[in-house]
Amino acid sequence: MNISIVGLGKLGSPMAACFAAKGYRVIGVDVNETFVQKINAGKAPVVETGLQEMINKTEGRLSATTSVIEAVKQTDATFLIVPTPSEASGAFSMKFVLDAAQAVGEGIKHKSGKHLIVLTSTVMPGDTKGQLLPALEAASGKKCGVDFGLCYSPEFISLGSVIRDMLNPDFVLIGESDPASGELLASIYQKVTDNKPRVARMSFVNAELTKLALNTFVTTKISYANFLAQLCERLDGGNVDAVTSALGLDTRIGSKYLKGSVAYGGPCFPRDNIALCTLARSLGVPAPLPEATDAINNMMAGRLKKIVEACLPERGTIAILGVAYKPCTNVVERGQGLELAQALLGEGQSVVIYDPDAMQTAQAQLKGKVTFASSAREGIQQADVVVLCSPCREFSQLTASDFQRSGSPRTVLDCWRMLDRQSVGAVCQYLALGTDDLRPIHRETANQQTTLRVSTKGASAA
Ligand SMILES: NC(=O)c1ccc[n+]([C@@H]2O[C@H](COP(=O)([O-])OP(=O)(O)OC[C@H]3O[C@@H](n4cnc5c(N)ncnc54)[C@H](O)[C@@H]3O)[C@@H](O)[C@H]2O)c1
Repeated sequence: MNISIVGLGKLGSPMAACFAAKGYRVIGVDVNETFVQKINAGKAPVVETGLQEMINKTEGRLSATTSVIEAVKQTDATFLIVPTPSEASGAFSMKFVLDAAQAVGEGIKHKSGKHLIVLTSTVMPGDTKGQLLPALEAASGKKCGVDFGLCYSPEFISLGSVIRDMLNPDFVLIGESDPASGELLASIYQKVTDNKPRVARMSFVNAELTKLALNTFVTTKISYANFLAQLCERLDGGNVDAVTSALGLDTRIGSKYLKGSVAYGGPCFPRDNIALCTLARSLGVPAPLPEATDAINNMMAGRLKKIVEACLPERGTIAILGVAYKPCTNVVERGQGLELAQALLGEGQSVVIYDPDAMQTAQAQLKGKVTFASSAREGIQQADVVVLCSPCREFSQLTASDFQRSGSPRTVLDCWRMLDRQSVGAVCQYLALGTDDLRPIHRETANQQTTLRVSTKGASAA
């Protein structure tokens, strides 16, 4: 069986490499000629852990082209993994999917046999049946479920571990036009995955809702833990790790994504959460739960900024370690380190940043505004306050000597509790986010706000 994959971006190129490494002949397609040339030269077109190694295992089975029609003609199944950017309403745009569908339809028009089309991009519930299916039928002149099969099958991956996640999914989700198409797709995943995952098969709309519901459940856990972290910071002896690690022991809750730290970011979680709110609104259903998750998340960078400013000496410098939205990726979209840097720059503060994987992408956003350090140590040396924003392995290896300086001690805000409290705390002001280390700071800022409110009131009364 031959497979074409339309869209060779962050998700499509790892998928193309995995399918080809597992024995399928794969033709990748992208409008970006550089990506096509790279695949044909055996090079990874995007930064992703293990992608180059996976491409090296494809043994001539992976090629690429810019022609969707040609790729479809030469294959039996086509996966669509093109962007679905968020519109102003919060819904996902189908523009790129429908552009690709037009070409796929033309490709299957004169082709014999039942071609399988799989939509992997994240879409709004209702759009596979309501938009993609009619577009394919119109362009091909063929009937879905009879002449061609259609499935909606999103991936549950995390950038930085896309390949591991694709090969070892907790489960596979398939929305299907007909049982034979779902069966065929399930058999493809059985060959590609390493862990024989369970497969959940259903209608398009239920699969589309499941994708959003799953990601939104995870973001709810993150915001809940971040809410608990704020309570712990104000309670004598409070420690969010003690609380969430116990919560996680309850199998109804589970321990993943319950750390109590910084906001979630990246290209998916924030958008998926908002899309579910948009869907609910369009159906006339109140959505206080995902709305609160989003609201808590949006407060997180401001809360970090307040803590940093409370610790910062006059004309001081802040080092932010970790600007990508998570470790092992160069994606800075909604990265908490990036948002903190932008918030501090808005107040005229001096910022130095370092990230082991995302310096180039960070430069595109912050060039000329911050100082770029070439290592974590170099960043720390320049700073009065150091914020460890992302749980990179490299940062967990920093030791007390990296933070020590003569004169007034630095402040270190350890958002992920990675450092050794005792030794680092002996040479600087060590503050673990989510613990009562921050109690004096919160008390002081609360007092300042009360004083401010009282004096403003007095001024207006006068
Ligand atoms: N990146 C993630 O973490 C992630 C996770 C889950 C789901 N998704 C979803 O997967 C989809 C793709 O995401 P991504 O991160 O891989 O996007 P991406 O922007 O990294 O890649 C998309 C690729 O599609 C190409 N493309 C656009 N229109 C095309 C066309 N008509 N023909 C051929 N190629 C075309 C683009 O040039 C680009 O290379 C989106 O719907 C996204 O929401 C992404």
